[in-house]
Amino acid sequence: MNHRDFDKRSPFAAIPSACHPLATLVTKATAFRRTRFGVDVRRSTHRQRVPTLRALLVAGLILDCAAPLAVPRADIPRNMEAAAIDRPGGPEVLTLHTLPVPALGGDEVLIALHTVGVGPWDVDVRERVDYWKSRHYPLVLGVDGSGTIAALGSKVRGFKIGDAVYSYVWNNPKGGFYAQYVAVPVNAVGHVPMGMSLRDAGAAAVVALTAQQGIDDALQLRAGETVIIHGASGGVGTLAVQFAKLRNAKVLAIASGDDGVTLVRHLGAQVAVDGHRDDIQGAAREFAPAGVDAVLALAGGAALEQCLAALKPNGRFAYPSGVDHVPKVGEGVRVVRYDAKTGPREFERLNAAITGAKLEVPIAAEYPLADAAMAQQRVSAGHVLGKVVLRVR
Ligand SMILES: NC(=O)c1ccc[n+]([C@@H]2O[C@H](COP(=O)([O-])OP(=O)(O)OC[C@H]3O[C@@H](n4cnc5c(N)ncnc54)[C@H](OP(=O)(O)O)[C@@H]3O)[C@@H](O)[C@H]2O)c1
Repeated sequence: MNHRDFDKRSPFAAIPSACHPLATLVTKATAFRRTRFGVDVRRSTHRQRVPTLRALLVAGLILDCAAPLAVPRADIPRNMEAAAIDRPGGPEVLTLHTLPVPALGGDEVLIALHTVGVGPWDVDVRERVDYWKSRHYPLVLGVDGSGTIAALGSKVRGFKIGDAVYSYVWNNPKGGFYAQYVAVPVNAVGHVPMGMSLRDAGAAAVVALTAQQGIDDALQLRAGETVIIHGASGGVGTLAVQFAKLRNAKVLAIASGDDGVTLVRHLGAQVAVDGHRDDIQGAAREFAPAGVDAVLALAGGAALEQCLAALKPNGRFAYPSGVDHVPKVGEGVRVVRYDAKTGPREFERLNAAITGAKLEVPIAAEYPLADAAMAQQRVSAGHVLGKVVLRVR
């Protein structure tokens, strides 16, 4: 789906053109002109009026065609549907609630959500809320997604109503993204790059930031270098493979299963093996006999230990916090543990990388908001190639 398809599929597109405020004005003016004194004045000699009205009509049509229709503030409902928990627990505690649409602060935007990411961290929050700072029940889960701007705080610059955006906020005090609306700090919002669908942007937000910052900032990967991406067929990994390829690095992808191996080869990995079954060290020796320059880990454990054994003595190793069972590395290795960051510059750099890489966003499964618990069960079951998402609109 391309950027224009979103316009057709969005709820705003369902508003007939005649409901556009300018179009309504033009229609009323035309009707008045036609029926004044019971006489059709369209062919009258009042020529000076005709261009004005025609110009208005054309302007209305241009507005209708060129931009997603803005949501007038009055159209934002008081309440919304959201998938939330009233206590920590199993998937059964995650249910659909009717909650107030979050109030907007001066430096925040209200996003009418379209697609929302479901990640393994969401399952952790549901099960043991204790490490989540703001804990007001009902607690709306979800840390990222895409949509269109429905309202702007008074201090917000650079965005307008109807803009297609994507966003990532960890532990948002105004509530998470498993909802029809979310209020987020404008710093955590980026415009969806030209040509990217809202569906892909919603699936990509946090995993794309994590993948691009892992490759470009934590590892500072350069052309011609070799990198092992471990956990390459998951949410972050599938995008990291493509960003590494964008930098002209050579990728050995450690994927999961035959289907994972096929996927990451398709995404640009020079070599790919199944990390649950294949000989990682043997593959690494063949791939880079003098050792690899860098390792990006998106999963831990014994398989990661094999990846790290293939590093050059002064190699680089990066992983985002959240990866468990990270083995110790040799003295000379530079280790960077990092968290995905947001901000205008971060989204600008990400958008350039998405465009440069012609990023493919693999989506393994999509669920309606009401089936958020099922979506989380799919994530918990493992072997997700790419992302699981919720479709809100
Ligand atoms: N701190 C941050 O800012 C941040 C942001 C995003 C993500 N993260 C963390 O980054 C990690 C990755 O996130 P994600 O969204 O990409 O998770 P994910 O989709 O679950 O990806 C992890 C992948 O690793 C694979 N895997 C596990 N063991 C493997 C092995 N031995 N060989 C090959 N593949 C193996 C899994 O496949 P199977 O399930 O089939 O084994 C899965 O595809 C998570 O720990 C997450 O918490 C942190």
